[in-house]
Amino acid sequence: MRSFKTILVTGGSGFIGSNFIRYLLGREDFQGRVVNLDALTYAGNPENLADIEASLGGSRYFFEKADIRDLAAVQAAFERHKPDAIVHFAAESHVDRSILGPADFVTTNLMGTFNLLEAARAAWKDRSDVLFHHVSTDEVFGSLGEGGSFSEETPYDPRSPYSASKAGSDQLVRAYGHTYGLPATISNCSNNYGPYQFPEKLVPLMILNMLEGKSLPVYGDGKQVRDWIHVEDHNAAVWLVMREGRAGRTYCIGGENEWENVRLLGRLIELVAEEAGLDPEKLRSLVTHVKDRPGHDRRYAIDCSRLKSELGWERAMSFDEGLRSTVRWYLGHRDWCERVRSGEYRSWMDKNYARR
Ligand code: NAD
Ligand code: TYD
Repeated sequence: MRSFKTILVTGGSGFIGSNFIRYLLGREDFQGRVVNLDALTYAGNPENLADIEASLGGSRYFFEKADIRDLAAVQAAFERHKPDAIVHFAAESHVDRSILGPADFVTTNLMGTFNLLEAARAAWKDRSDVLFHHVSTDEVFGSLGEGGSFSEETPYDPRSPYSASKAGSDQLVRAYGHTYGLPATISNCSNNYGPYQFPEKLVPLMILNMLEGKSLPVYGDGKQVRDWIHVEDHNAAVWLVMREGRAGRTYCIGGENEWENVRLLGRLIELVAEEAGLDPEKLRSLVTHVKDRPGHDRRYAIDCSRLKSELGWERAMSFDEGLRSTVRWYLGHRDWCERVRSGEYRSWMDKNYARR
């Protein structure tokens, strides 16, 4: 079992990264330091970790504002903090944005990952007591028909600029493992939901639009299927892979929880109606089918038997409990929502809607 003194978390101010840092710093099996390296793009929000900064800033938690596209800045962070592990979350992560503006996806997801690998290779040389964990997505595998699921053996078939850039970054990590012996693990996870998710993604977008009486835009027929997992279950799996996963190996992470988009929206409407005391019929009347996303992947599903059988991972959160607690979190954080939905967010939503 590996143990680490200083973990460099990239993208720690975003949705999954901030949840990961909170998870890690609450665990007994990690007593070291965390360095959060984040450029604070539109998706990064220091508020997500304000409590951690207040309680552990300067002792166990350190923030580095840096862009992974800037090799010198990444190297400087390595020199300052001397991490013995990296967990790499930083990415441009939204498919719709990758369709309207793919350039940042190529530079951050590909070049940024390359820079981190170069910095790690130079700093770690042939050390074997270190780890580069790369966080990736099931979208690298493409799109499924009605049956079957993705596993670690599924050939890559990315179909959006987002998934193509993530696929390229996965392959770079693999290549550094093979060629330079860099101890590296990769995880490919399905769709996450939970607190602090930026409200451009399906679940928080729909919750907040319901609360504001705005239309609920369903792309195309809404029969696309996603496999939903609570962010805490994802992060528990990432930590398990970092501690016990085999170097050079990939692990698929999934919720074993497939939902058609329209069915999921129906369930969210029921939950928001119950939790916010709103009329479900009125909420249902907000559902609007809009032009489909270009190249929209039809179905994703993950077979996570390797993670379960090799490392003993099990999902802890039931979907019903997880979705309800997520709705409650957004209801209890209206100020946060208001702040992240101002400025850049508004102009992006206008651009995205204009597409339809
Ligand atoms: P997010 O968009 O919420 O957060 C991304 C974070 O990365 C932000 O804090 C942002 O400021 C930072 N960042 C972006 N570009 C940067 C750059 N050039 N330099 C430094 N920091 C930069 O994303 P998320 O949903 O938390 O996803 C995190 C990771 O997990 C991504 O790699 C994503 O591909 C992967 N993933 C996400 C999901 C999901 O459902 N959200 C599922 C599977 C895998
Ligand atoms: P999203 O949260 O963007 O994740 P991903 O594209 O990575 O799976 O979208 C989840 C699903 O919901 C996807 O099939 C697209 C669909 N969707 C809508 O129908 N309407 C929306 O406004 C959004 C953001 C997504």
